[in-house]
Amino acid sequence: QRTKVVVTRQLIDEAQRLLDTNTDLEIVQWHSSNPCDRSWLLEHAKGATGVLVMLSDKVDEELLQAAGAQLKVIASFSVGTDHVDREALKKRNIRLGYTPTCLTDAVADLTVMLILMAQRRAGESMGKVLAGEWPQMPWHPLLMTGPQISRSTVGFLGFGRIGQATLKRLLPFGISRAIYLTSKPGEPVQEDHFGIIKEAAIPIEPAKNWEQLASESDIVVVGCALTPSTKHLVSTEFFSKMKKRAVIVNIARGPIIDTNALVEALAQEKIFGAGLDVIENEPNISADHPLLKQPRCVLVPHIGSATIETREQMATESVKNLLAGLKDEAMVNEVEL
Ligand code: GLV
Ligand code: GLV
Repeated sequence: QRTKVVVTRQLIDEAQRLLDTNTDLEIVQWHSSNPCDRSWLLEHAKGATGVLVMLSDKVDEELLQAAGAQLKVIASFSVGTDHVDREALKKRNIRLGYTPTCLTDAVADLTVMLILMAQRRAGESMGKVLAGEWPQMPWHPLLMTGPQISRSTVGFLGFGRIGQATLKRLLPFGISRAIYLTSKPGEPVQEDHFGIIKEAAIPIEPAKNWEQLASESDIVVVGCALTPSTKHLVSTEFFSKMKKRAVIVNIARGPIIDTNALVEALAQEKIFGAGLDVIENEPNISADHPLLKQPRCVLVPHIGSATIETREQMATESVKNLLAGLKDEAMVNEVEL
């Protein structure tokens, strides 16, 4: 009997070929660009030894039970693993692969884009041009002015690879200081992924707590994992400590920011603007969502890692992780459960 694997999406060419060369496997695949049906997944997981999932597929007790005791590996096509019940995997000795390294540049690029868009009112400005309003708003010294990036203090909520790669990109813009908060407040981060923390000519310091980060930052970058302790970490209290000219960018997971609190902070001008790649309850965001009524909010549909090159790499790495899990070999990147 062939080893069965389930793959919850059609993969990009090279990754699909790599998967398909394994003729010893029974490959059951959701061949669609739409998210995999939950009922299809539960039904087909039965008897699988490996499952390759997207971040939209919940990996929980229900799925693991549906699969059965032979399940050895979950390979997630993502850096975030909040859709995976890690405890449930650990209990069963199931390995978890993910793709935290190959998407760093793409997400850091998008983070810089969102910072600049929020500060320089790019969405609001272009919206006016598209609406034919330019004739009514001739050049004016204060037209569409926003805060400038140089000399800013940038506060990172979470300071892993993506945060550090973002900082690396911001240094040439002339920021003056960076502070960061991790799960160990006040402690310096252990990993200097790109050697910039040591080498940068500006101070880069751990914050004592979120209050300090909120009150001292001109730019807040949300780049931490979603966990019970980071859910709604950015709340009404957080916004009330932020500077009126500060912007906040979220490239991590929607629920880290309390959406109602953000709408209120923007409406009451407690902060200057926001740039979001993720939001609570995505993708179910309709055009009448209250946040979209806020002109200083830029929202894009979870496209942080969406460069052609990165998505190809994520697909290939996910397949490699899956295969490594089946063969008890080292993965490209494995979550320590
Ligand atoms: C994207 O959000 C990811 O986790 O890869
Ligand atoms: C948390 O995500 C961190 O980067 O420390």
